[in-house]
Amino acid sequence: MSATNNNLLPQHVSIIMDGNGRWAKQRGKERTEGHIEGVESVRACTEYAAERGIKYLSLFAFSEENWGRPQEEVEALMSLMVKCISAETPTFTKNNIRFVVLGNLERLSEGLRTEIADCMALTAGNTGLTLILFLSYSGKWDIVQAANRVLASNGGEGEITMEQLEAALCTRAAAIPDPDLLIRTSGEMRISNYMLWQSAYTEYYFTDILWPDFRKNEFKAALDEYAKRERRYGKV
Ligand code: IPE
Ligand code: IPE
Ligand code: MG
Repeated sequence: MSATNNNLLPQHVSIIMDGNGRWAKQRGKERTEGHIEGVESVRACTEYAAERGIKYLSLFAFSEENWGRPQEEVEALMSLMVKCISAETPTFTKNNIRFVVLGNLERLSEGLRTEIADCMALTAGNTGLTLILFLSYSGKWDIVQAANRVLASNGGEGEITMEQLEAALCTRAAAIPDPDLLIRTSGEMRISNYMLWQSAYTEYYFTDILWPDFRKNEFKAALDEYAKRERRYGKV
């Protein structure tokens, strides 16, 4: 069977894009240079995901914990987001890409929130790849906001069910399925408070490649590896 067999192709691929700082350091550059180069990998991976017919590509771009980085780096990352989202919007339109941002968006600047809302509204009707950016996101935040949503809708009465909680996670509320494949670059083998609930049965793929070096061929290698996995979900 070929690796492009639809059953062997993940519906939702998620990536913890890590290693920008180390990529820059290796070259004697500022960390920000690594983030800028990382945007090229985002472009390459988005293009390849669409080419392969992947339905959902989600990218962990900024965690709640990342707010604790030096102010200068946080500001550089935020202005890079504003710049990229506005620059990429025409490409999303051209390539039928639906753009979605998930996370604790209250913490973002008004300018960035406006840019996000505009791009999401403009691309909402697109039917090709859904590209999801996780911004100011953490898995624990997601579970707590879901619990609070359920409590509010229950009027504080009765017990929360698993189905209710699951349906209120920010991904499910946006009709995004759980990730089938989760890639983490840069050799770190941890989840760093990413989709804790949603990745219960996700297949993990770790690579030493730093995010700015992760392009089409590296993505293809991860998909090839996924195609060989047997997902059992606790059954035999
Ligand atoms: C990933 O690269 C980008 C973000 C977390 C925003 P890093 O900035 O974490 O790079 P390293 O891990 O320090 O090399
Ligand atoms: C995880 O990377 C978050 C993102 C890629 C956005 P970090 O670099 O923040 O993770 P740790 O600190 O190494 O766990
Ligand atoms: Mg890192």
